[in-house]
Amino acid sequence: MIAWRRLAAMAIAAAVCVATVVGQSPTIGQEHAVERHLKDGDEFRLPIGALIDYGRKLFCANWTEDDGGGRPLTRGSGARLIDPSHPLRGMRAFNRLSGPDANSCQGCHNAPYGIAGGHGDIVTNAIELADRFDFVTFDKRGPNGETLGTVGNSRSTPGLFGAGYVEMIARQLTRDLQQIRDSIAPAQSTRPVVQGISFGTLARRRHGSWDARAV
Ligand code: HEC
Repeated sequence: MIAWRRLAAMAIAAAVCVATVVGQSPTIGQEHAVERHLKDGDEFRLPIGALIDYGRKLFCANWTEDDGGGRPLTRGSGARLIDPSHPLRGMRAFNRLSGPDANSCQGCHNAPYGIAGGHGDIVTNAIELADRFDFVTFDKRGPNGETLGTVGNSRSTPGLFGAGYVEMIARQLTRDLQQIRDSIAPAQSTRPVVQGISFGTLARRRHGSWDARAV
């Protein structure tokens, strides 16, 4: 009798486990790198440690098609494929030159020691601007005769530690420049200098629009 009760309890426990798993991934075959996303405003409610952990999770996630990874009918520039009859799916879903070429931020920003947010080896260089083509290959020139040397600009993956501070400085410069801009009366001009950096001349036309040609 006791054995039966124990068996029944185990069966209920198993059923609960199955229900939990099913509750997490409702469709068989669906795979999500991150099951739950934060909502706008959560960043103010979560403790800073939890927020950083969540950011790390996003940075290291290997995004899947079910998450919305890939761009089957779009070039990296956001424009439609030149040849939409060959969508970027399956074997064409990744391209080391014209992209997409990774499914995780950490795929490139991972050095030293595999650390998330670090710099990257030369193999993680991004070929900037090559993503304006559908699918660049090694054996063919681009539609306008481009070669590997001219198709894009090889850029190394920088470390991101401290990048937030650089961004803060940029925001501060922007705020100061906007204040200077807004203080110029119509038909006047000024030479904005912020943090010792000269930005040329910014002028305002008589009817109030800005003339930024000499900035
Ligand atoms: C294919 C490799 C690759 C992947 C994947 C990648 N990056 Fe980068 N990242 C680069 C390269 C290369 C640069 C420098 C670009 C340049 O010089 O124009 C860069 C630059 C940056 C910068 C600017 C740093 C600075 O100080 O100016 C940030 C921030 C950044 N990446 C964050 C991310 C995030 C967040 C992700 C994931 C959503 C990501 N990267 C995925 C290669 C990559």
